[in-house]
Amino acid sequence: MRTPLIAGNWKMNGSKALIDAFGQAFASASLPTSIDVVVIPPFPYLDAARQAFNDTPLQLGAQTLNPHHSGAHTGEVSGSMLKELGVTYVLVGHSERRQLYRESDEQVFDRLLAAVDAGLTPILCVGETLEERDGGRTMDVVLRQVGYIMARLAPEQRSQVVIAYEPVWAIGTGRTATPEQAQEVMAGIRAYQAGFDASLAEQLKLLYGGSMNASNAAELLAQPDIDGGLVGGASLKTDDFYAICQSAG
Ligand code: G3H
Repeated sequence: MRTPLIAGNWKMNGSKALIDAFGQAFASASLPTSIDVVVIPPFPYLDAARQAFNDTPLQLGAQTLNPHHSGAHTGEVSGSMLKELGVTYVLVGHSERRQLYRESDEQVFDRLLAAVDAGLTPILCVGETLEERDGGRTMDVVLRQVGYIMARLAPEQRSQVVIAYEPVWAIGTGRTATPEQAQEVMAGIRAYQAGFDASLAEQLKLLYGGSMNASNAAELLAQPDIDGGLVGGASLKTDDFYAICQSAG
């Protein structure tokens, strides 16, 4: 049995006031006990979030990390620093990092390894562009991104990784993948993983991301290979995020 995971990626949004609002809303909310819920705010809010979420089931995530443990890397944040702040999950390879900041598969791998070394659970983001989908290359692109990472990990490291399938054309566009489209790709990722280890593939947690909201979450989460969601825009509103969490229970 894979425990459902709902992760809210605030990207470069939010405020101290929104952190407090989430703390208050989720302290009194009754979430399904059988799911994990993670809020991923920008770095400057992590410590305030740790305090505000103290009486809630919300866990903390970070949006990226530097591959190095410490040193002369101005502007960067290491896995051990995140761990010290109470962070348990970290995103790696988000399409915005790949596209806007030119992160290569190699850099994504280095960050993912640093996360595992620091005792953080990496959420590896993969997904195709619209041009790649229209060109019939979705599975090639996604399995190349997954394979680059998985082939370089030891089995005990592989078992730590969560994968988020986020079609780039569905991110922030309001155009969600259909449940069938998402299921097809995610079943393909699980089958690929089974090539390494069948029981590991059964345990692999797969999240869907891309315009998931309170209205479409239930249908997506009902798919057999979708174990949760990586939510962007809809994770900035307490009511919407709460409704998505309820759909996962
Ligand atoms: O990390 C979250 C994803 O990029 C999805 O964002 O829900 O705003 O489309 P979105």
